Amino acid sequence: MSIIQLIFFGLLVPCLVAQSFNQTHLGFPDSWDGDKYRELYCPSKNIPKWLDGYFLCQLSASYGNSSAPDGEKLSHMIDAIGAVGSFHVSNGQVVFSAQYYPARPYKIWEFYDRNMSKASVPFAGWSDYNLTAMSKWEQVPANPDSARFHPNLDFWKVGNRIIAGTEAPYWVGYEFDVRTLQKFKLFPFKEENDIFSTPRHTMIPISMAIHERNDADGTIWGSFSAMNFEEQRFYQGIFTVDTNGVRRVVGLYDYGAWDTNACGSNDEYIGDKTLLPGYIHSITSTENFVILPITSLLINPCKFKEPPLNNIRSAIQKGGLWGMDFYDMVPMRFLIFNKKTLEFTTQKPLEVFPSMFVTHQLNAFEAEDGNLVADMVVYDSHDPYIKYFYTDFLTKQLYPTTARVLRFTLDSKKQRVMYNYLIPQETISADFPQFNHNYEQKAYQWGYIVQHPFASGNSILKINVDEPAGSRNLEFRADPNLVLHEPWFVQKPETKKEDEGVLLVRGLDTAENKGVLIVLDAEKMVELGRAYVPISIPFGFHNRFFSKKDLGLPEGFQVGPSQYRPMDKKQGIATLPLKKITTILPSTSTEIPTTTTTEPSSTTTVPSTTTTTTPEPTTTSTTTKLTTSSSTTTTTTTPEPTTTITTSEKPVTLTTQTWTPPTTTTVKTTTVTLPTTTTPKIPRWWPLAGSATTEQPWWQKVQTGTTNTLPPLFPVSKSVEEKKVSVKPNESDNKVVEQKPTGGSMDEIYDQTLTALCSWIPKVFTSISNELCFKQGRTAAKWMAPIAQSYAERFRMGRANRKTSPNDNPNIQPSLKQMAFDPLQQEPIRFG
Ligand SMILES: [Fe+2]
Repeated sequence: MSIIQLIFFGLLVPCLVAQSFNQTHLGFPDSWDGDKYRELYCPSKNIPKWLDGYFLCQLSASYGNSSAPDGEKLSHMIDAIGAVGSFHVSNGQVVFSAQYYPARPYKIWEFYDRNMSKASVPFAGWSDYNLTAMSKWEQVPANPDSARFHPNLDFWKVGNRIIAGTEAPYWVGYEFDVRTLQKFKLFPFKEENDIFSTPRHTMIPISMAIHERNDADGTIWGSFSAMNFEEQRFYQGIFTVDTNGVRRVVGLYDYGAWDTNACGSNDEYIGDKTLLPGYIHSITSTENFVILPITSLLINPCKFKEPPLNNIRSAIQKGGLWGMDFYDMVPMRFLIFNKKTLEFTTQKPLEVFPSMFVTHQLNAFEAEDGNLVADMVVYDSHDPYIKYFYTDFLTKQLYPTTARVLRFTLDSKKQRVMYNYLIPQETISADFPQFNHNYEQKAYQWGYIVQHPFASGNSILKINVDEPAGSRNLEFRADPNLVLHEPWFVQKPETKKEDEGVLLVRGLDTAENKGVLIVLDAEKMVELGRAYVPISIPFGFHNRFFSKKDLGLPEGFQVGPSQYRPMDKKQGIATLPLKKITTILPSTSTEIPTTTTTEPSSTTTVPSTTTTTTPEPTTTSTTTKLTTSSSTTTTTTTPEPTTTITTSEKPVTLTTQTWTPPTTTTVKTTTVTLPTTTTPKIPRWWPLAGSATTEQPWWQKVQTGTTNTLPPLFPVSKSVEEKKVSVKPNESDNKVVEQKPTGGSMDEIYDQTLTALCSWIPKVFTSISNELCFKQGRTAAKWMAPIAQSYAERFRMGRANRKTSPNDNPNIQPSLKQMAFDPLQQEPIRFG
């Protein structure tokens, strides 16, 4: 490095290492009142006039006082009172408005004058909650128009209608009038299927991926996990939603029947893990196939009951993930579904080690060789959920450098999965990837991702997915005080170049505590324009722009100037400090972002592609993809699988109850750095299977319990072994079979369900005899619904079906017991 370079980096690096969490508490407000202004005019400059639509933002908007005791505040972004923010962008002008979703937690919080301490968190979730307050509020009959939880994760577009959604399979979320942020109602799917239309014990959906995929004709593809309570059998379902809101279940993959005798101590499932579905947050799709990445966070049927009490003498119950466990020794699995034939092409899921957790997708497409290519953000564990999204975490440290941006190549013919890295870094502090959705399902070149999410001074990184060395990657960093959120790409009209368009990015200025909307040139990654919001805007998850053309609305500037003034009062709240607005108009001289471009290096070696073949072990082939002419393509042999697999111990179950917050703070320059000049170290994480050995695939070990010299990976019950043939998924089972209407009365359905449940519940919950099961079950009408409901809500919607009792035995509180003694719990199946 030359002296000039040293001086340059000496001056530059301190400026670049600017991410900070110092003021990020501003993004997690105690009580945000931004909804009380009908419309807020946002002074702006250089907003492209061809942008004409609504940039909708999911807001995690209110938490309560962070200093309040447990049970009087919300501490996780998913739990926060959810709201939708809308930037109406038209004719170069910007107006911001917001509205809370009228979900049950919001209504309770509103009832207590928006004071979370008074409200006492009477809803279970990731935050600590108050069982006494919950019991009190459970006396209030359910309101069919008020969802049990906020649909504050993402947005779906059904025809011209927009749904704010969460991962509740039955109701998904609220439809609303995008122009006014009014008329919220749970989206009325037209159910043309036997699963969502009628509550039945034979198939109860329990989780759904919120991130869908869309065909060019507007068809939505989605996926859900379901359980047949009669056979204790799990399924992975595929559904479509057409532009009229008609939902059809078009595919079911049968994982097999889980073993009711395989619940070990601490409610761990000790049977064959292949029989359990994994959590799926996002799916992806090519022109002809839907790809389901089944993570190593598995649904655990042994936890289909209330979690143990944190403290039987306290009404405060610890929140967190319940009903799923992450297994370090369970690989990532992929199911592939043919959209044309409506069949799974994978009789058994493709597998790749190690264990993985996937949050979000970039694009996917079909390669010329017939393989499927799918790019996504991958973690070693589900730490983003159980650690990173807690407010305590994000206000005390930066988002950790633990994400991998990977390209998976799925080879159905050879039953193998390969992956390689799309960026020079093995791991990166980044998430919320995006791309030009006009290229959805097609080969593409450019992705965009948020570096250092939720930190001020963070940046948007533009990734050239065709060149993992990253020489053409670009970075946009705004001001040191700005926190940038997930971008959304909007193609410039009448252009075809993939990156010719803008990125819409909302942000929070932590110095001013006010929101901003930034428009970036997506090609050059420089700022084009900016609008200033006169109030603070909380952090949140996903954002999406819908043009008026998309929504079938008249294009152009449709409202008069008078409507661009903020209302003095909407609900008796003070007027806006408009004077401030005029003092912060942007100047062009301050809007030049720092753009960092990586330089190609002849010595760069990017992380190599790895192949893992299942079930038959094969030699790993490396097909390093480089565009720099001086780089070398290497072939390596995958490390002996036995070195890692057979020395592993029993899978580790992680829960929020036991995690220890990291004590170190990672502050790292976001300059796109090149890897070392030597081949990167092979992480634990890299392929474990493969090579020319006779190593059994993991699932065979699970089933047979045999290894060469070491104990079985998983304790396997005899019944599991006996069932290993019968539980093998059969491709012919993976089709939707037209089911005749049951024709029975609800009573008959209840009886059938009761019989099914009581055949296995006593085996899982030893405190419940078969007789007691029937007795309690018959006491409660519609009792099968809350069991699944409780499970699903424990996972992310939150709801406890219990009342506090000092005599509670923490480990024998199945939902059924609670439901049976609480007739007020009875209600139609409705998650969240
Ligand atoms: Fe997400």
